[in-house]
Amino acid sequence: MRHITAADITAFEKVYRLNLVNGLPGFKPANLVGTAAPDGQTNLAIFSSALHLGSDPPVLGIVTRPTTVPRHTYQNIKQNGGCYTLNHVPLTMLAQAHYTSANFDDDVSEFEACGFTAVYRDDFPAPYVAESPLSIGLRLREEHAIFNGTALLVGTVEHVYVRPEALRPDGTLDLVALGEAAITGLDGYHAVEPPVRFGYARPGQMPEAIR
Ligand SMILES: Cc1cc2nc3c(=O)[nH]c(=O)nc-3n(C[C@H](O)[C@H](O)[C@H](O)COP(=O)(O)O)c2cc1C
Repeated sequence: MRHITAADITAFEKVYRLNLVNGLPGFKPANLVGTAAPDGQTNLAIFSSALHLGSDPPVLGIVTRPTTVPRHTYQNIKQNGGCYTLNHVPLTMLAQAHYTSANFDDDVSEFEACGFTAVYRDDFPAPYVAESPLSIGLRLREEHAIFNGTALLVGTVEHVYVRPEALRPDGTLDLVALGEAAITGLDGYHAVEPPVRFGYARPGQMPEAIR
């Protein structure tokens, strides 16, 4: 095994360091975050930092980069009643999804520039991605500053839209059937194999795969 220390990481060239550290969490979820400014200007950005924070009530987090430069997603969430959407990325639209990370001006909507369709549903003020197989409407509940300038945005889930064939009888989601991508690092997009499932693990009982 190669041993890499914190001092090594600090000394690495910037892009090398970014690539390495962004790969450390492993495979990550691929979400497009949809928002709208108060004047209606829409915004879309790929985020790989979505995480589950609790199910009752349903809570998800996303991590936003430091606001030392304008961050349209963050600004829109703050200015539009805390509303934003997470939209899973279909494997058929990887280039378009990655393109949303480009530094577009704030008068350009990544929906149009990158080839996605904005849809509004059930009076929620943030736009969903029509092409996404699973979309979530969230409202910002808490914001936690992290020592390095990033922030954890904690949002409660208000709406979920999913293709019904992907919702299994036990509530689990068949994300493979939905044709979704996962992310590694800052520019790797993956198709995913169907899972091996084990159910609830108990001490003294090696889990067995459910057939
Ligand atoms: C694969 C990938 C994952 C990303 N994940 C995040 C993320 O979790 N949080 C974040 O703030 N930016 C993330 N970004 C960067 C944003 O997509 C990028 O800064 C985008 O321009 C933000 O747009 P905005 O200014 O419209 O909010 C990611 C970029 C890529 C390519």
